[in-house]
Amino acid sequence: MRLDRGLAIAGLQRLWVGTRLDDLLAELAPEQAQRGTLQWLWSGCLRQHGSLRRLTALLLRKALRPEDGDLEALLHLALEELRAGQRPDFAVVNDWVEACAILHKEWARGLVNAVLRRYLRERESLEAQVQGARWNHPDWLVRRLQQVYPERWSDILVANLEEAPLWLRVNPQAVAPEVYAERLSEAGLPARSFAELPQALRLDAAVPVRALPGWDEGWVSIQDGAAQCAAQILAPRPGERVLDACAAPGGKTTHLLSLGVTELMALDRSSRRLDRLRQELQRLRLRLPLLQVADAAELDTWWDGTPFDAILLDAPCTATGVIRRHPDILLRRRETDLEAVCGEQQRLLDTLWPVLKPGGRLLYCTCSVLPEENQEQVAGFLDRHSDARVLEHPLCGQRLPGEDGMDGFFYALLGKIVAPACVSRETDETTRPDVTVEDFA
Ligand SMILES: C[S@@+](CC[C@H](N)C(=O)[O-])C[C@H]1O[C@@H](n2cnc3c(N)ncnc32)[C@H](O)[C@@H]1O
Repeated sequence: MRLDRGLAIAGLQRLWVGTRLDDLLAELAPEQAQRGTLQWLWSGCLRQHGSLRRLTALLLRKALRPEDGDLEALLHLALEELRAGQRPDFAVVNDWVEACAILHKEWARGLVNAVLRRYLRERESLEAQVQGARWNHPDWLVRRLQQVYPERWSDILVANLEEAPLWLRVNPQAVAPEVYAERLSEAGLPARSFAELPQALRLDAAVPVRALPGWDEGWVSIQDGAAQCAAQILAPRPGERVLDACAAPGGKTTHLLSLGVTELMALDRSSRRLDRLRQELQRLRLRLPLLQVADAAELDTWWDGTPFDAILLDAPCTATGVIRRHPDILLRRRETDLEAVCGEQQRLLDTLWPVLKPGGRLLYCTCSVLPEENQEQVAGFLDRHSDARVLEHPLCGQRLPGEDGMDGFFYALLGKIVAPACVSRETDETTRPDVTVEDFA
């Protein structure tokens, strides 16, 4: 199968100007054979953006003209492929030199050929010169991680630049996880299971989804282990009314439904992302919950006044815990985003709190590793809401990327106290409300 190099080049240029990798991949047909190769190449170029820029600057005698951004993208892709070493060097060089024709820039053949061959000749010394850019993270994020995690920051940066393992979540409505693990093993795909995450299986090596037994039949989904903690922590009980406030594209919604939640309302302000949830519900053959495009903090637009037993607030965040899966974050995220994102998280937390029944629980989570969005956000919330308490759960707290092979995530389970203990007028004894904070402990 020949890679469409024109598509690879145009896609990388769009990633450079802020297109999300997920959106770009979503534009490709699921059965497109080169999808895996494009994802691998684009992700590699994003992870190595800093060092590839330095490398091309060193290799080019004269900077390219602004209108030759396509050639710069071509060089990044070619150099990344040479670095990966998965195909013979001569084939990589030839194919990318040929790609000049797709760009209608035949004049650049000699230039591309010379640059790539020089890289191969002087590889060691060139790579040594770009060592300084090896973190490939924006400076502000490196500085921030150094402050927050003085012992762990370099492990986090290394983990962010690694390829993430493939985590599966078995749909227990379709097949028992133990049975599915056997099916995988029969298909030559051994997987690890995890006691604390009963539906999770982790494969040793990534495979295209269609190679997974029962993919089209909805037996299994792709979802990182850290994301699978949400349904585990929220632990919905039969008959509970659950709100998934920021639901799309629906990884956690479908998990909750597959565990038997029958009364679920899923909101998201992006209709495009909610469409992806609808498609996934069809594949998994799960009942359609109440889905609504809405700003969850605009209660008038979606809430009928009936409170929920449990709320999942998987809040918009900087996504600094999932860079290994979304390397476009390295280029898209700005330091100034942090303030806006924290403001939105606070707005959502404060507005959704009254929607929760007394005695109910709200699971706040982000895929961020920054304390402003996590521990500090929760501390501020507790200061503002005297009827809120943190409920202990072994899966709660901050998980850093790469720990247990999982993404970086933060979870805090907040319980709403029924009513302060009150003094009975008749007996002068303290009466106990139905549920108190002790019930959450
Ligand atoms: C972290 S993602 C949710 C991922 C999802 N829970 C899952 O497991 O697949 C955050 C989502 O929040 C949505 N969002 C952001 N602000 C929102 C708001 N004010 N109201 C509703 N949805 C919002 C975004 O469109 C995005 O889909």
